[in-house]
Amino acid sequence: MINPIALHNNKLLILDQTRLPGNEVYIEVECVDILVDSINRLAIRGAPLLGIAAAYGFFIGVSEYDGNDYAGFRNKCRRIKELIESTRPTAVNLSRSLNQLLNLVDEMKGRSIQEIKDSLLNKAKSIHETDRLLCEAIGEIGNSLVPNNASILTHCNAGALATGGIGTALGVIVKAHQAGKKVHVYVDETRPLLQGARLTTWELQQHHIPMTLITDNMAASLMKRKRIDLVIVGADRIASNGDTANKIGTYSLAVLCAFHKVPLYIAAPETTFDLSIENGDQIPIEMRDGTEIIHCAGKPVAPSGTNTYSPAFDVTPNDLIQAIITEKGIIEPPFDENIKTIFNLES
Ligand code: MRU
Repeated sequence: MINPIALHNNKLLILDQTRLPGNEVYIEVECVDILVDSINRLAIRGAPLLGIAAAYGFFIGVSEYDGNDYAGFRNKCRRIKELIESTRPTAVNLSRSLNQLLNLVDEMKGRSIQEIKDSLLNKAKSIHETDRLLCEAIGEIGNSLVPNNASILTHCNAGALATGGIGTALGVIVKAHQAGKKVHVYVDETRPLLQGARLTTWELQQHHIPMTLITDNMAASLMKRKRIDLVIVGADRIASNGDTANKIGTYSLAVLCAFHKVPLYIAAPETTFDLSIENGDQIPIEMRDGTEIIHCAGKPVAPSGTNTYSPAFDVTPNDLIQAIITEKGIIEPPFDENIKTIFNLES
């Protein structure tokens, strides 16, 4: 079983994804600074997993408070929240978890600090377990969209290494495979940090799912040769109208899909929707350090000092998306109406 985050004897362990596929090394998160550093350098990553890590990290950070004064504790909580929130702005799961934990602190005003800390740990565990169940449901529901003998393209990593369960986009593929369908997965390597090449292939290998690795610029040629039946990816944030932020390169795939009439599915839990924003223009896009482009797998591939442009994510407009697979069901266009309906919100 792939376990990117675990509580073991009250210690938080995270699998250092920068070392995969070569080494399976766990980092012990003894303090919040270790977590912040791990998130910043993508040792832990993927929107739902960032939500889980943020929740445990918040608990670890505020546990350092050893006073009994609620105001002082609340202040510490606010500072820890801001610290973790400052890491990666695009995946909404991260700030969502932190808001949930800070709200709990507010609701428990008047209770002992120890009681509040205990409840925060329980909340973090429940966010983790809930995500596991959400992945199961997304996988089961999404399986209905996968025909037998499907050739599927995916981008980045939206699997167990990005969630608390079997993954979102990869969860669908895993469920189709477990249901006995023949599937073949084309994996985009996903430059600059190679989450596809390093992580998705590693996961698919463990599931014994047939796959082929391609560089990102090969997808068009595959589609032209009718070798792709569907594309399925995860999401970092989905706006009220269905516009979806995901790993840089998803938008190019979406354009290719539209041109070649290949359906593009997004798989994501409700925790990845940000219904406070109307459309994708309002999604903050993380910019990464250009050295990640100048290097590939740790080696320089361009002269140092080369100008770079390195957004970590792009936004795919809703009209390029065939459907969004959630734990509540499959959302089809018109997304603005159907997203509200599926999540029982007033129109
Ligand atoms: O920069 P990363 O590796 O955190 O980006 C991850 C992605 O873009 C995933 O597709 C997304 O978070 C969904 S994970 C279920």
